[in-house]
Amino acid sequence: MGVGMEVKLAECIGFCFGVKRAVDTVYEQIKNGKNIYTYGAIVNNEEVVKDLAGKGVRVLESKEALEGLPESGCASVVIRAHGVPEEVYGILNEKKLECVDATCPFVKRIHRIAEKESRDGRHIVIVGNAGHPEVEGIIGWCGGLVTVLKNEEEAEKFTVPEEEKLCIVAQTTFNYKKFHNIVEILEKKGYNSIVADTICSATEERQRSARTLAAEADVMIVIGGKHSSNTRRLYEICCEECVHTYFIQTLDDLHLELPKAVRLVGITAGASTPNKLIEEVQNYVRINF
Ligand code: F3S
Repeated sequence: MGVGMEVKLAECIGFCFGVKRAVDTVYEQIKNGKNIYTYGAIVNNEEVVKDLAGKGVRVLESKEALEGLPESGCASVVIRAHGVPEEVYGILNEKKLECVDATCPFVKRIHRIAEKESRDGRHIVIVGNAGHPEVEGIIGWCGGLVTVLKNEEEAEKFTVPEEEKLCIVAQTTFNYKKFHNIVEILEKKGYNSIVADTICSATEERQRSARTLAAEADVMIVIGGKHSSNTRRLYEICCEECVHTYFIQTLDDLHLELPKAVRLVGITAGASTPNKLIEEVQNYVRINF
């Protein structure tokens, strides 16, 4: 490492509590010697999924794949942190498959709110991205009307009969400011609504600490999956603060050409990036520059 050069990790980095818990759960299950399936990739990171595949863990990509499994007493299906619609538990039950539920407790809370408020006759408004597995899971706990709104324009266009009551929740990783703008738009329309701010602070803290570090750093490295939207967001934030920002998925992607007078290299990583990879990158920079 160059004289006087420092490598520093962001304060909040990598796996959040819920994802760590889900990944740890799968590794624990492997020790039990059962056939293990995860309902969807356990984490949005190819490296981790590959490592688990090497240990015999198979990924069920759809409800149909789950329905196609033979009834068995020796297979476990792990539900990932994003959670699943209620009907998936029904299928597991019917097929007598062991369900290992690693739904993040913060997501579970949204399921409970959606279930209860639907039962009380409220129209559930999920502020989030339609098609995201977490949102699909929440929809599956709404017994009645449900709408997904992803931005202010959609909120402006959204209308329901005056007597309808709303319950507004958020996808856990949704942008805080945007959520509040959307809530404000809906409240101005005068609907009877209750609001549950269900945004998880892990994302915000990770973003805040990435920004702080990027503002100090001469070079910033963002590690995460290509398809991970939270990693992409981290990358954008770091680019705003630091012109020499690199987005890498694995160590092989890292072709650093450090500007001469680098004092500080900062590292941050998305919610799906394992510690092992973060350490590898950190060591690589320490040894090679
Ligand atoms: Fe859970 Fe928050 Fe992570 S909701 S899965 S701890 S981002």
